[in-house]
Amino acid sequence: MEIKNRHVLITGANRGIGHGIAKMCAQQGAKLHLVLRHPDDALKAQLITLGAPAVLVYTADLSQRESVAQLLTQLDKIPLDILINNAGLLTGGLIEGQPVADIYAMFQVNLLSLIQLTRGILPGMVERKCGKIINNASVSAVMHLPCASTYAASKAAVMAFTNCIEAELKETGVSTLCLITPGIKTRMFDEIAVKYGKNLDVPQDSIGPDEYAQRIRKAIEDDESYLLPTGATAVGLAVSRYLPALFRWGVGRRFHR
Ligand SMILES: NC(=O)c1ccc[n+]([C@@H]2O[C@H](COP(=O)([O-])OP(=O)(O)OC[C@H]3O[C@@H](n4cnc5c(N)ncnc54)[C@H](OP(=O)(O)O)[C@@H]3O)[C@@H](O)[C@H]2O)c1
Repeated sequence: MEIKNRHVLITGANRGIGHGIAKMCAQQGAKLHLVLRHPDDALKAQLITLGAPAVLVYTADLSQRESVAQLLTQLDKIPLDILINNAGLLTGGLIEGQPVADIYAMFQVNLLSLIQLTRGILPGMVERKCGKIINNASVSAVMHLPCASTYAASKAAVMAFTNCIEAELKETGVSTLCLITPGIKTRMFDEIAVKYGKNLDVPQDSIGPDEYAQRIRKAIEDDESYLLPTGATAVGLAVSRYLPALFRWGVGRRFHR
C-alpha cells in the first residue's frame, strides 16, 4: 500500500518507535491522526514541516477502556486507511515481584486497547474495501525469556490476534502487518536493562527508531504480513523456533535467580 495521502492513525506517536513512524509517514505525505496522552503542538509543527498535509491529535489514555471508547466515537467519521497500534508498556522481573497494577495496565495498553481499537475501526475499512492494521508485537512474542513473562504473554497474544484477523479479512481488501520488533533504542529499551537486568544478562543489540521506521515503510509498501528482525536477532528467533532445547540452554546460562 502506498502511504501518500492515506489517513494514518498512530498510537504512542510522541516518542520512540511511534515518533519514528510518524516522521516517516509525514515524509511520505500521509494525513496523520495521532493518539497521545497529552496535546503536543511542537510535534504537530514538526510533522507538518516534514511534509504531512494534515496532523490531528486525539488525547486518550489507552489503559482506560472508557477512554478508548471515547476515542472511537471521535474517529467515527474519519476514513482511516492505516491503523498503527504501537503504544506499549513494559513489565518485567521475576513474576512474584511484578506489581499486579502494572500487569493489568500493561495488558490494557499492549493488548486490550489494541483489540478494542481494531474492532472499532475495522468495519469502516471493510466497507471501503481498503485498509491495513499494523500491530507492534515484539520478538518477545516468539522468544520467551525469563523476566519477560507478562510482557511476552501480551505480545504473543498480539501476534495470535493479528494472525486470526488476517484470516478473517481474506478478500476484503483489508490486510494486516505484524511487527516482530527487535531491540530499538528507545526509553522502553533502556527500561529493559533496569527491569530484567538483576536476573538476566540482557542482549544490547539495537537499531534507532528512524531506521526501524524505514523498514516498516517498506513492509507497508510491499504489503508484507510480517516484519521480521534481521542479523543476530533473526538467528536467535530461528533457534528459539527450530532448536528450542538449545535456546533454553542458552537462556539458562544468562539467567540467575
Ligand atoms: N524498544 C524496543 O526495543 C521494542 C522491542 C519490541 C517491541 N517494542 C514495542 O514497540 C512499541 C513502542 O515502544 P517504544 O520502544 O517506542 O516505547 P516508548 O519509547 O516507551 O514509547 C511508548 C509509547 O506508548 C505510549 N503509551 C504508554 N502508555 C500509554 C497509555 N496509557 N495511553 C496512551 N499511550 C501510552 C507512550 O506515551 P507517553 O509518552 O505518554 O508515556 C509512548 O508514546 C511498544 O508496543 C513496545 O512494546 C519495542
